[in-house]
Amino acid sequence: MANVAVVGSQWGDEGKGKIVDWLSSRADVIVRFQGGHNAGHTLVINGVTYKLSLLPSGVVRPGKLSVIGNGVVVDPWALLREIENIAAQGVQITPESLIVAENATLILPLHSAVDKAREEARGAGKIGTTGRGIGPAYEDKVARRAIRLCDLADEAVLEHKVDQLLFHHNALLRGLNAPEIDRAELLAQLREIAPRILPYSAVVWQRLEEARAQGKRILFEGAQGAMLDVDHGTYPFVTSSNTVSGNAAAGSGMGPGAVGHVLGITKAYTTRVGSGPFPTELFDDIGELIGAKGKEFGVVTGRKRRCGWFDAVLVRQAVKVGGIDGIALTKLDVLDGIEELKVCTGYRYKGEVIHHLPAGQTAQAEVEPIYETFQGWTESTYGARSWADLPATAIKYIRRIEELIEAPVTLLSTSPERDDTILMRDPFQG
Ligand code: GDP
Ligand code: IMO
Ligand code: MG
Repeated sequence: MANVAVVGSQWGDEGKGKIVDWLSSRADVIVRFQGGHNAGHTLVINGVTYKLSLLPSGVVRPGKLSVIGNGVVVDPWALLREIENIAAQGVQITPESLIVAENATLILPLHSAVDKAREEARGAGKIGTTGRGIGPAYEDKVARRAIRLCDLADEAVLEHKVDQLLFHHNALLRGLNAPEIDRAELLAQLREIAPRILPYSAVVWQRLEEARAQGKRILFEGAQGAMLDVDHGTYPFVTSSNTVSGNAAAGSGMGPGAVGHVLGITKAYTTRVGSGPFPTELFDDIGELIGAKGKEFGVVTGRKRRCGWFDAVLVRQAVKVGGIDGIALTKLDVLDGIEELKVCTGYRYKGEVIHHLPAGQTAQAEVEPIYETFQGWTESTYGARSWADLPATAIKYIRRIEELIEAPVTLLSTSPERDDTILMRDPFQG
């Protein structure tokens, strides 16, 4: 029995939350391994909508263990707010149902302040971050000055780390003529939050090892998507973590063999929030129609998502760099009624045809998509629960996508509702 890692194969918002929630009925443990509350996952269960950012998308199902791994950057204030909000919807989270790695890096209020100030300073060249402090927190982690969850229980280390952090950040703030961070105020904030967040702290690698030894099924939940990966994405217009499945092991404290089957979540078209290259972006009525029908607005920031045709070159690249074994194709229903569909099969760049997205920023901005055209379908696929319900032209579209991306479609999602999901092959069966 394989474990499963769910990852995004485009620029995020592919419907990972819905698929993780659906798959979690077959899992015992659900683990977030990277990212933070920049993620926004929407689940719809019997008409009730749940919006999650930091909590794993398995939390709604009772009896599952939710885990926030060491690879996640955790804003303790945001986490407690999310726990409160979901409690108001009747989902109780306790230290028995949720554990957070003691060695996870914390996002502090100063990180989102720095994130926002830097974006403003970048002006037209801004990345379009979520402003949640994700980048600055990962920077502090790699620079070995971050405060980790376990530090909240160690007053001496906490004070020392705060000094190190302020030595760095206040020097920058002084240079920008911006107000400096007050040591006493930051320490007071941390001392106040410590007793509220520490009950969730756990030795996650050990708990996961125990689960593995007991034959429990683990579902790893990725945030963002391959094209936002800090190495493999459209750098510098990316997030600050590795979003590919290779990070599921390191970000949770398990070996690579534990990751198992890699399920790439893929939208039947393409969207992106924030700045950066997007070769198949649509600026016409069809783009507007897809955005409106697909309700393409960000969960975290409410920003309108940019929309475009399916880019098979990008998804094939995501399949290769992320070791994706199969994909869950989502939001096929959004394409219902569009007369003619296009899929990008290659790029024209400097007079040549290429079949990958080059790494260079200028090249990424200059590649021109080469399209294959498909006949659409007039029937509704919304809420379809069987393959037999799909129009022949929709099946043709899916089959061609499989061929182009060199991975099979093993799950198909046809509406936001949990149960409007067609299973072709169970990823837990490998
Ligand atoms: P995530 O970040 O990958 O979890 O995706 P988001 O939740 O940010 O965005 C996906 C959106 O599409 C959510 O509003 C989902 O409710 C919705 N969604 C997921 N699957 C489908 C589908 O098959 N059809 C339609 N129409 N909406 C879907
Ligand atoms: P989910 O998990 C879509 C984008 C931001 C920005 C870039 C960097 O819901 O798929 P950051 O705040 O991470 O430093 O921003 O990454 N971004 C996402 N886009 N879905 C997400 O998460 C995203 N998380 C970050 O819009 O372009
Ligand atoms: Mg999202």
